[in-house]
Amino acid sequence: MNTTPSGAAREIGVGLISVGWMGKLHSRAYQVLPSVYPELGLKPRLVHAADTAEDRAAYARDVLGYEKASTDYRAVLDDPDVEVVSICAPNMLHHEIGIAAAKAGKPFWIEKPVGRGAEETAEVAAAARVAGVVTSIGYNYRHAPAVERARQLVAEGRLGRITNVRATFFSGYASEPKGALSWRFKRELAGHGALGDLMSHVVDLVSYVVAPIREVSALTSTVYTERPILPMGSGTHFAVIEDGEMAQVENDDYTAALVRFHGDAVGTLEASRTIVGPQCGIGFEIYGTDGSLTWNFERMNELRVALDRSGPHQGYTTVLGNGHMGDYASFQPGPGNSMGYDDLKVIEAKKFLAAVAGIEHHNSTIDDAHAVAEVISAAAASAESGAWEPVPDVAGATFGHQARS
Ligand SMILES: NC(=O)c1ccc[n+]([C@@H]2O[C@H](COP(=O)([O-])OP(=O)(O)OC[C@H]3O[C@@H](n4cnc5c(N)ncnc54)[C@H](O)[C@@H]3O)[C@@H](O)[C@H]2O)c1
Repeated sequence: MNTTPSGAAREIGVGLISVGWMGKLHSRAYQVLPSVYPELGLKPRLVHAADTAEDRAAYARDVLGYEKASTDYRAVLDDPDVEVVSICAPNMLHHEIGIAAAKAGKPFWIEKPVGRGAEETAEVAAAARVAGVVTSIGYNYRHAPAVERARQLVAEGRLGRITNVRATFFSGYASEPKGALSWRFKRELAGHGALGDLMSHVVDLVSYVVAPIREVSALTSTVYTERPILPMGSGTHFAVIEDGEMAQVENDDYTAALVRFHGDAVGTLEASRTIVGPQCGIGFEIYGTDGSLTWNFERMNELRVALDRSGPHQGYTTVLGNGHMGDYASFQPGPGNSMGYDDLKVIEAKKFLAAVAGIEHHNSTIDDAHAVAEVISAAAASAESGAWEPVPDVAGATFGHQARS
């Protein structure tokens, strides 16, 4: 990391691996970071991007502003000017690239679900531990100011003892029967379907706000068994292809789980990628002996709170985003101004680079990703066995305020 004379920002050389949806979003987040968080004195410098699709690599150089572009991710990791790396590749590459980044000594911000199952995530975590590199995970929803406020209310005991939790990620990205068969639908490329792609966000969210999960009973189902093929590196997983060649969907469209948290709480979690109606419906309802909370990303700036059991303000009150919630004040000077999805990634970029620079350590880590992956793998095992499955503890995971039982 280049340290410049006092008062000047410290430049951090950034590498990007894969220039799809997330690759572009990470890039925008780095670009915006110095203006949202000037007090950190950090200035990301977009150095080197790679994508096997030549047009996407060229886009990174010519439009996003990276100084260099390659079609081989190794060129990014070998580049001495790259000090940190964003890994935004499809799931089947997380294991190989995550380990390679750790061995190259580069701190990395990697997209969820970090591989195709708990074994792969654990191996990336072990490599990062041995290398001693900072890691951050793409669990963007936990940064929503309303979610941070929910976490604080739970931690302070304002809801009393948490009794039960309902959480969902209902997405419609594959609700069209002719919705494209991207890499997400192939077991070899993605691992699980909705379970890995969407439920991983749900598990992170409830673990972060309430407590880690210790036991799970789950089921999965596939709604559409065939879809038209979308070649890698083209289009998006929201594409609809009317007359394409069909191929088999190899993983789940829907999953549901009953869970027991560490502590007393129990819960139900659901995820679907084929649902009609909800579109990016990730959210939770948290119920305690003294109150309740509810939040959904489709109304990201609203937290619904019930803290009055029987007095004049009983029932839910809606609170809009304000400076008491998470990083809200870094974006807007006054309450009620809506934030958006991109802003969550800016917060994530800030937490990553602040941890790399040793300024603060509020980032999600590879150990969190490993803990989430253990829940996902236990859910997959339960869907097979029909039995409750225990979730192994992961040392070093940072979430959950409530005492482990
Ligand atoms: N945090 C979130 O909310 C969120 C949202 C979407 C995706 N994701 C995650 O981000 C990751 C990427 O998803 P996406 O939607 O951006 O995918 P995408 O399909 O839009 O892009 C993937 C890119 O990877 C490139 N690629 C394929 N093989 C490569 C290789 N060997 N080397 C370099 N690049 C290669 C492709 O050409 C493509 O440009 C996934 O793990 C996904 O689960 C997270």
